[in-house]
Amino acid sequence: MTSFARRRAAVLDQMRALGGGVAIIPTAPEVMRNADADYPYRHDSYFYYLTGFPEPEATLVLMAGERDQAVLFCRDKNEEREIWDGYRFGPAGAKERFGFDAAFASDDIDRELPKLMANAPALFYALGSDAALDTKVQRWLNAVRVQVRAGVTAPAAAFDVRKLLNEMRLIKDDEEIATMRRAADITAGAHARAMRTSKAGLREYHLEAELLHEFRRHGSQFPAYGSIVAAGANACVLHYRAGDAELRDGDLVLIDAGCELDSYASDITRTFPVSGKFSGPQKTLYEIVLASQQAAIEATGPGKLFTDGHDAALKVLAQGMLDTGLLDKGKAGSVDDVIANGSYRQFYMHRTGHWLGMDVHDVGDYRDPAITATEKPWRKLAPGMVLTIEPGLYVRPAPGVPEQFWNIGIRIEDDALVTADGCDIITHKAPKTVAEIEAVMRG
Ligand code: GLY
Ligand code: MN
Ligand code: MN
Repeated sequence: MTSFARRRAAVLDQMRALGGGVAIIPTAPEVMRNADADYPYRHDSYFYYLTGFPEPEATLVLMAGERDQAVLFCRDKNEEREIWDGYRFGPAGAKERFGFDAAFASDDIDRELPKLMANAPALFYALGSDAALDTKVQRWLNAVRVQVRAGVTAPAAAFDVRKLLNEMRLIKDDEEIATMRRAADITAGAHARAMRTSKAGLREYHLEAELLHEFRRHGSQFPAYGSIVAAGANACVLHYRAGDAELRDGDLVLIDAGCELDSYASDITRTFPVSGKFSGPQKTLYEIVLASQQAAIEATGPGKLFTDGHDAALKVLAQGMLDTGLLDKGKAGSVDDVIANGSYRQFYMHRTGHWLGMDVHDVGDYRDPAITATEKPWRKLAPGMVLTIEPGLYVRPAPGVPEQFWNIGIRIEDDALVTADGCDIITHKAPKTVAEIEAVMRG
């Protein structure tokens, strides 16, 4: 059984536990960029998780009833289109190659899907996620309802299928972990390559080109998100993208970039000196961020809360802000005061991590889904979850802030797999300590 078939069986089990029914899971549409040019095609993560089927214009239908069935709707064979756009599996080829119980042409979905929905107690689909899908579901439901005098009943309940799939996707299986490790290795190599390439006079896009080259030459299909390559003060703009600013001697450069490999993301940030040697103030802040990340890593493991890492990192960062005078001890008070009154947010304004998987900000509840109270507690970590650990410090010029730290922006981000007794930093090959970075950059 392939991992895709295993996952389909697991969803079907959950659907049956809810009384059975029919799940409808379409893949993503192709999107036009401008006249006659598409964006590179990226399938829908839910659809791909359950099928491994790469073509657009496809829909998976799962039927949980007396007999489980997985049915694919996909593009028909078409010689002319295949000459222009490439091979299509077609329904017969897809059924055979991907192990579905049945397959039909997408053009026949309005005719065939109402038959599959007839007498099903419930529908499972991404409720209200896409107006076009909602409209189609309404059309298919109406096509079932008109048969009521023939004794056919239409589904009378709807469940959001994403709720079932999110929980599954949150815990990565062995195959997913193996892919994520390979993605992490490629991305670690790309960061090291950018460090080796860096020198004053180059521009941000030169380092971005090194990243993309390294991703692609190892088979990554795309970057998992828009690469951030931020020189000097640009590092204090959280969502800065790689631009054309010049790398200047004495400045830092912050790179937040990760490849997507076979549908799985990696997400690494490293910050290093343009010319390979940290200045005193840069090193001071870097060591604080590094220590805060280490504290968060130690707070990441089975049974710990999702937020324990953030809280651990925050303590170290807040202490560092007081020790360096970023925050005035006289005015800001103790570490506990700084955390309680939020004054740390001047220099650290984001959270310390997020789930990582097929999507860079992956699916899965951050609160305990088993608890129905309004104030759900944060989720406990469990083996197989993957999350990022990414503390930082961003110092914008401001009155009262020591000038030696102005315009320094530092983030250190790794990807952690929760294991039976702690966590495994799968991105550990990216140089990280001051000594490691300076050694790599010396060549
Ligand atoms: N690169 C996106 C993030 O770090 O969350
Ligand atoms: Mn990142
Ligand atoms: Mn991240």
